[in-house]
Amino acid sequence: MWKIRTNTFLNICIVISLFFLFYYALLTQDVVKQRRNLVRNLKNDLGYVKFLPSAPHNSKEYNIWLIFTKVTNVSTLSYKFRDLLHNLLNVSSVPLRFNIIVDKGSQTIAENQISETLYGNKSMVYSFYDIEESAKKIQDIVEVMTPHFSSKPGTYYSDALFYISLGLYRIAPQSQHFAILLDCDLYFKKDIALLFNEFDRFKPTALFGLAPELTPVYRHILHMYKAKHNTTFGEFYHDNNISNDVHPKGFQGYNTGVVLINLGAQRKSLEFPKLILNESVQAMTSKYRFRGHLGDQDFYTLVGYEHPHLIQTLNCGFNRQLCTWWRDHGYSSIFADYFKCNHDVVVLHGNCNTRIPK
Ligand SMILES: *[C@@H]1O[C@H](CO)[C@@H](O)[C@H](O)[C@H]1NC(C)=O
Ligand SMILES: *[C@@H]1O[C@H](CO)[C@@H](O)[C@H](O)[C@H]1NC(C)=O
Ligand SMILES: *[C@@H]1O[C@H](CO)[C@@H](O)[C@H](O)[C@H]1NC(C)=O
Ligand SMILES: *[C@@H]1O[C@H](CO)[C@@H](O)[C@H](O)[C@H]1NC(C)=O
Ligand SMILES: *[C@@H]1O[C@H](CO)[C@@H](O)[C@H](O)[C@H]1NC(C)=O
Ligand SMILES: *[C@@H]1O[C@H](CO)[C@@H](O)[C@H](O)[C@H]1NC(C)=O
Repeated sequence: MWKIRTNTFLNICIVISLFFLFYYALLTQDVVKQRRNLVRNLKNDLGYVKFLPSAPHNSKEYNIWLIFTKVTNVSTLSYKFRDLLHNLLNVSSVPLRFNIIVDKGSQTIAENQISETLYGNKSMVYSFYDIEESAKKIQDIVEVMTPHFSSKPGTYYSDALFYISLGLYRIAPQSQHFAILLDCDLYFKKDIALLFNEFDRFKPTALFGLAPELTPVYRHILHMYKAKHNTTFGEFYHDNNISNDVHPKGFQGYNTGVVLINLGAQRKSLEFPKLILNESVQAMTSKYRFRGHLGDQDFYTLVGYEHPHLIQTLNCGFNRQLCTWWRDHGYSSIFADYFKCNHDVVVLHGNCNTRIPK
């Protein structure tokens, strides 16, 4: 009797212990696997691992993309890059993952600037991507776009720099589903998490998120078309409807200092591959007699007018441009109508080398 009871008791103990051991083993294995995956993912992406977050709690991705090429130690881009990193690390409440497109010479300078930024116990996760390899992956896009949207076609890869955002879905690792491509002449006044939150507000058909261009540059480029057509294309945003077409309040075009990209949706899109074909771009540019010089942003502006479902318009506070060049070049009377921005400013954009008041 007693013996049996002991045995039963022992058995129960053993079963319970085994259960816990097994559970523990499973748990540990899971954690190890998760970590290994994380390391592998980071390594795969042209592997540079500086810091691993201890626990990948967050299912959200915070991919930042920057382009840092043709830089010398003395170029202002070098300082702008460092300031932006510093600024982003300071204002971000979310774990950012930096993806930096570089050439061989610039990579060394980028590494120096990064180490200058990481004083104290600051850390950042980053990977480098080679510009020549990236350019190869988007060659077809560049060939179609360059004749219409580049001021003077240059070398094979300098042209590609202006169209990275359109082909980033081919350059970025498949594991990335959302990305934000930033110019280096930006200053974040508020948490960059606010910008990532904008992805949640995308209409289901949107592939890109862009804020308006805040100058009359597209009114200028479209002047021949506008002379013959009553259109809101190129008009500043009015408070009330001024027509009953698809952009009833006006349409200033887009600026690409800040580009939100739903990479996952873009990879799956049946429409996007057609849009970047020569015939499509040719059709849009000839319809509007459009000859641009601002690269991808010219293309987005046309797409935004012709196929508005593909672009989510962010408010101007997410890319508050500061360049006033057009005010002094023939548009002084209407410049303010384009330049106005009545939203809370999250990002200041010191474009055309405008100093950013901080
Ligand atoms: C740039 O500066 C760093 C440190 O100041 C130096 O180590 C490096 O050799 C310089 N690079 C070039 C290309 O001058
Ligand atoms: C860091 O951000 C805070 C606000 O979040 C700001 O007050 C502070 O000036 C920033 N520091 C630097 C060095 O930019
Ligand atoms: C390092 O991090 C801890 C907490 O994460 C913080 O309290 C401390 O001030 C940091 N030290 C420096 C030098 O930044
Ligand atoms: C695009 O089409 C135009 C006119 O149809 C043609 O002249 C041009 O060579 C084509 N470009 C490319 C890159 O196929
Ligand atoms: C342009 O069209 C709008 C309605 O869409 C009309 O109210 C306006 O008078 C037209 N302007 C001209 C110059 O025809
Ligand atoms: C302005 O135009 C839009 C789209 O055509 C329409 O939905 C909206 O009701 C109009 N608003 C006013 C005040 O007429």
